[in-house]
Amino acid sequence: MRNPSPPSVANGSPLGGEEAVDAYAISAEFYDVLQAERDDARVRRLYGGDVAGARVGVLDVGAGTGRVTLMSPAGSRVPVHAVEPTRSMRAPLMTRLASLPADRRRRVTVHPHRLDEADPRAVADVAVCHNTIACLHPVSRRALWPAVARALVPGGVLLVQLPPARPPRHETTYEFPAQRIGRHEYGGRMVASPQGDRIRTGFDYWVRGEGGVLREHHETFWMWPAGRAEVVGELRGAGFAPLPERADPSVLAVRATWAAGAVSQAG
Ligand SMILES: C[S@@+](CC[C@H](N)C(=O)[O-])C[C@H]1O[C@@H](n2cnc3c(N)ncnc32)[C@H](O)[C@@H]1O
Repeated sequence: MRNPSPPSVANGSPLGGEEAVDAYAISAEFYDVLQAERDDARVRRLYGGDVAGARVGVLDVGAGTGRVTLMSPAGSRVPVHAVEPTRSMRAPLMTRLASLPADRRRRVTVHPHRLDEADPRAVADVAVCHNTIACLHPVSRRALWPAVARALVPGGVLLVQLPPARPPRHETTYEFPAQRIGRHEYGGRMVASPQGDRIRTGFDYWVRGEGGVLREHHETFWMWPAGRAEVVGELRGAGFAPLPERADPSVLAVRATWAAGAVSQAG
């Protein structure tokens, strides 16, 4: 169990290092069991068209267990770069990649670092940051944009799922639909509560057998709200310009504005 206080900010820690490597140690086991079906459909709807239109490469920032990464080699013909610093999330990602046909997985490169550490240059014309920046301390979030800029070619597009604009007024609970695997039922809930300018998200997981609860686990993450205007302002500073609002306004689209041959503002 992760102690919620003082702020461990293990996810997206501005300090990085071992602390960040251990984040998701509990949640990784339950992540795909409880969320994959719903999230797979969601990322297809949100980013499928953009990925299909990629001509240089696709960059998945904070790839996790591979929601966007796995969709990309099937939905495009270009190389895919998955950036995932956390070992516990990267393990299922690697297992899923290993099960792909060789011609598909040959196109996927996994960077086992934060994006600003991996620092790939001009590898993509489509970058996706899904369900990631809400979990980043503002210092880490702002460090991400210049690295995304360096990873994109001129004119490339970045798609960012925006964090909540502000903390919730009250505690809110979301129950994950229970999933059966063999004789066991897997369940979980997420409880989001305001804590100053942050959101504390507590994840409770359980596994039930015929005789009752077999085991229970808990993990706490922190989220940092940021409004659309704030994120757009940060991205402008890294050389991006906002594109028209998308059908789903939870995703912000911005374009790299620097010209071919120029060094991006991000350096
Ligand atoms: C909540 S998970 C979401 C994973 C995946 N995008 C999804 O939607 O299923 C956020 C991921 O971002 C990763 N992450 C955190 N900071 C990062 C950084 N600076 N660069 C790249 N990935 C990062 C974490 O390790 C974590 O796996």
